[in-house]
Amino acid sequence: MVTIRPATPGDAEAIAEVYVNTWRSVYADLLPERELVGMSYERTALYWRRMIAEKPGRDLVRVADTDDRMVIGFASAGASRHRGLGFDGEVYTLYVLDDFQGAGTGQALLFSSFRRLLDRGLRSSLVWVLAGNPSRFFYEVMGARRVAEREETMWGVRLNEVAFGWPDLDATLKSPRAIAAS
Ligand SMILES: CC(C)(COP(=O)(O)OP(=O)(O)OC[C@H]1O[C@@H](n2cnc3c(N)ncnc32)[C@H](O)[C@@H]1OP(=O)(O)O)[C@@H](O)C(=O)NCCC(=O)NCCS
Repeated sequence: MVTIRPATPGDAEAIAEVYVNTWRSVYADLLPERELVGMSYERTALYWRRMIAEKPGRDLVRVADTDDRMVIGFASAGASRHRGLGFDGEVYTLYVLDDFQGAGTGQALLFSSFRRLLDRGLRSSLVWVLAGNPSRFFYEVMGARRVAEREETMWGVRLNEVAFGWPDLDATLKSPRAIAAS
């Protein structure tokens, strides 16, 4: 049984483990190995601890944990950083540990984040994803449509990114998939 709940500062180490491990796995063919190997659990945990403890309410950070309180995934969301696209909310991060993927956790985190965005008065959302990341298909399964593209440089590598958007979160949460998942 997986539970979705708001993150606390004490989750920072577990969130860092999910973050670093999934980056190394999903971006292995897209980003330089040296940089991925150099990612630090400690620095990443510090970032998330500050994000959760010092800026409560700025980002909505939610974790998924198992019955024995192991954090297996997390998501963060908030106001869109790209207002020009006509979407007021944004899912900034969504990661589920490899061994726990494919069991509905990503979907539960996504819909839970959408509920919190709506609570905050944000009625639509987008997510940016690397064009080469297979998770783009997940967003299509979740009812999003492709709304924009851009080029970014990260660690010296030029990368194509795609934005997927949900123009009406209320309608998305009333879809048969979201109702079945709740
Ligand atoms: C993308 C991710 C969050 C999805 O989480 P998940 O727990 O594996 O997905 P779920 O089990 O909730 O999947 C829900 C549905 O989406 C489908 N789905 C999930 N990943 C998919 C993919 N890559 N391609 C196509 N469909 C996919 C599932 O088959 C399932 O469909 P069904 O209910 O009809 O069987 C997870 O795979 C992940 O963390 N990936 C690595 C990190 C990443 O790329 N994050 C996104 C960065 S923007």
